[in-house]
Amino acid sequence: MAEAILEVRDLVKHYPLTQGILFKKQVGAVKAVDGVSFDLAPGETLGIVGESGCGKSTVAKMLVNLERPTAGQIKYKGEDITQMSGRALKAVRRNIQMVFQDPYTSLNPRMTVGDIIGEPYEIHPEVAPKGNRRQKVQDLLDVVGLNPEYINRYPHQFSGGQRQRIGIARGLALQPEIIVADEPVSALDVSVQAQVVNLLDRLQNEFSLSYVFIAHDLSIVRHISDRVGVMYLGRIVEIGRDEEIYDHPTHPYTQALLSAVPVPDPDAREHRERIILTGDVPSPANPPSGCPFRTRCWKARERCALEVPLLEVPAEFRLASGPAHHPSACHFAEEKRVVPDAGSG
Ligand SMILES: Nc1ncnc2c1ncn2[C@@H]1O[C@H](COP(=O)(O)OP(=O)(O)OP(=O)(O)O)[C@@H](O)[C@H]1O
Ligand code: SF4
Ligand SMILES: [Mg+2]
Repeated sequence: MAEAILEVRDLVKHYPLTQGILFKKQVGAVKAVDGVSFDLAPGETLGIVGESGCGKSTVAKMLVNLERPTAGQIKYKGEDITQMSGRALKAVRRNIQMVFQDPYTSLNPRMTVGDIIGEPYEIHPEVAPKGNRRQKVQDLLDVVGLNPEYINRYPHQFSGGQRQRIGIARGLALQPEIIVADEPVSALDVSVQAQVVNLLDRLQNEFSLSYVFIAHDLSIVRHISDRVGVMYLGRIVEIGRDEEIYDHPTHPYTQALLSAVPVPDPDAREHRERIILTGDVPSPANPPSGCPFRTRCWKARERCALEVPLLEVPAEFRLASGPAHHPSACHFAEEKRVVPDAGSG
């Protein structure tokens, strides 16, 4: 892999749980993110997938500095941004922008599209001096496939897909290098999802962007990701190249998620093994000891309650160079092809 543009190490976000009204006393913590590490290469797309509440948005917010980590490092081109402040932080923030999930609530309904897209220039006037902002915004509308003449319209005059294009244009305004997209298509109709994913794909090539692309569902990130990280209860449990994760998953949780992905081919559907997970996701305020997945894992044994499995290439695959050779946080990692024709998806 090329030298990373972003290196995330042991990232932690714990939200304190307090009791009492006047004298708040900390009685515990919601372990929203509990030790996440990954690299992002220039021009790469890393997909991050996991069920609701596993900490995806919290990771995203820390990457763009909307939340301060409890611990850990986020290195942008070798420098830890969690330790930066003032002008240095402002300069870095410009390069890491976010696209939000919900195009209905993330755009201010009382602002025109021009003001929404141009708002980042108020903070970074050096990117677009006042005189040529309107032209810049119109160029951005054009780039995301919207009519530049719509510049004076309001968000309610657009469809969901168009609003997400506006959100993307705003994310591009400061010419960032990295875009963190937090479920950018989840709120959209299925028919519109592909158009927005294709747009992101095109923009990536055009502007040499690196993406962290967050989704609930493995099927959405497959089309756009080079690598995928699977999250469970505040941690990444398996990470690897696209084909490693989809065709050679070794972590039971990834295998269960894949077994629920829709398969269009009826033949493949028939041969696909369904793994039904029982039980609920445990509360991040009180995660299980050892392996966080053990309360729902059909392979759990005594060791799983005692020892936290580390995210590393499992010992049994370390010597081989095949597709199972990728990090998986399971004491009993085994290769298992869940979707027979996943390779053609
Ligand atoms: N400000 C906060 N204070 C306390 N707990 C929080 C806060 N923000 C998030 N959490 C908790 O942290 C956990 C992770 O939340 P997060 O929003 O990151 O999950 P997610 O994976 O993005 O979920 P979804 O798929 O529903 O968007 C959840 O249990 C959530 O309730
Ligand atoms: S470590 Fe144990 S409980 Fe965790 S995923 Fe592996 S087998 Fe299951
Ligand atoms: Mg979220």
